[in-house]
Parts: sequence; structure tokens; C-alpha cells
Amino acid sequence: MRRVFGANWKMNGTVAGALEFLERMAGMGSSSVSPELVLFPPFTVLPMLRESAVRAGMALGGQDLFWEESGAYTGEISTGMLREAGAEWFLAGHSERRHVLGESDRIVRKKLEKGLRNGLKGILCVGELREEREEGRTEEVVRGQIDAALSGLEEASACNLVVAYEPVWAIGTGLTATPEEAERMHRLIRQWVGDLGGAVSPEELRIQYGGSVKPDNAADILSRPSIDGALVGGASLQADSFMAIVRSTPDGQ
Ligand code: 13P
Repeated sequence: MRRVFGANWKMNGTVAGALEFLERMAGMGSSSVSPELVLFPPFTVLPMLRESAVRAGMALGGQDLFWEESGAYTGEISTGMLREAGAEWFLAGHSERRHVLGESDRIVRKKLEKGLRNGLKGILCVGELREEREEGRTEEVVRGQIDAALSGLEEASACNLVVAYEPVWAIGTGLTATPEEAERMHRLIRQWVGDLGGAVSPEELRIQYGGSVKPDNAADILSRPSIDGALVGGASLQADSFMAIVRSTPDGQ
């Protein structure tokens, strides 16, 4: 299975910074590693990155999208706009959108469905809050997010869908799930996706881990058999640390 690493820049970065990042990635040989690499910069930066992204062997993605193609939706961005800007991927259900912007499971589902239907590849982000974990509700919460997003979703397959398990308490905090905990959740997610009986083959589905992944903890996390890559925030802003994470797996050499 080809690993997949995402650099989610969130609300950070400039055109100049992104061009420099891609040049540095290319200089470090990013175009010849076997894992798939995707950069999710701010929307405004996307159109300027195409050529550099090709040289770096990185695909581009949008951090979000809206479920209509055009119309009176102030501030939103459509799949067509993303594609025109050079994006092939999108994120759906990132915890910052769920918990800072109040996106419900229903909204995440609509976005995922729209993006996949219009030919983009999607990363569905799921994960529990610290309180939910402390209440022993991690499995219930994550399974609920998986079911709401994927149940009966005919557009999804293991070719166009990746799931990112990002425990919310681990994002940007320096805390990470232990590799054992992460592996256990990834196995459960695979099982739940299989239980849905849709077109997404659970064995082929790639599941990334996200939440304070850094060069010094990546090898341990990524050594687990059900962890197929990482979705990286802070440590993806610098090409050196992002590349060190990619290179921490045998296939990233
Ligand atoms: P950090 O790597 O900064 O914890 O962010 C993870 C994340 O939210 C990636 O989508």
C-alpha cells in the first residue's frame, strides 16, 4: 500500500514561502520517494504552485470545499474553483472546522460527497475531543463520524478516499496517542468501514495518523501496520521537518 503524507498548512504561509518550500522539497529528492505527498496551502496560494509542485512530486489540495458549484455562498469555494487552481485533493471534517467553525457530521458528509463526485480525492478527518476521551467515548464518537460520512456513500473507494485519525487533544499540543493506541483505533476504523459494506475496501483503505507528528516521533508511529501515513500540521511548515517525517519510513527513503 502506498503511504500518503499530507502537509496541512492551515492558515499559514505565503506564495513566496510555499514556492521556497517546494523548491527545498525538490532539492531533497521528494519527487523520487515512493509515498504520495500532498500540500494543503491556503486557497490563495494554490494557483501559483502548479509547476513547482510538479517538480517536487507533490500534489496540491484544498483545505475545505463547499457542496454547491456556484451561487450566493459568501466566502465559500467550489470543487470547480479548486480544480481550476490546481487542486486534486481536499480535506473534509478537519477538527478545526468541526470544533472552531461548528461543522456538523451532516455538513462534512455533504462536502465529502460533493468533492468525491466531482473527481477530487478526499481526506476525511475524524477524531475525539479530550473530554470525549476522558469520558471513555472515543470509539463511539469516531465510529459516529465514520458512519455519518461514509454510510451509503457510493462515490467513495479506496482510490479516492483516505481517512485521517486525528485525536483532537493531540493536535498542536505536542501530545500524541501512543503508537499502540493509534494502531488500535486505525484497526477499528478499518473494521467499521468494512462493516458499512460499501465500495471502500477496508484492506486497501489508507488511514493516516495526525496530531503533533514530528520527525522524532514519526518512525515509531509509522512503524505500526495499520498506519499508512500522516497528516502533519506544524511540522509540515518547514520542508526539512516534513521530509524527515516522510523519510522516517523505509519506503520514504
Ligand atoms: P499538528 O501536526 O500541528 O498537531 O496538526 C495536525 C493537524 O491538524 C493536521 O491536519
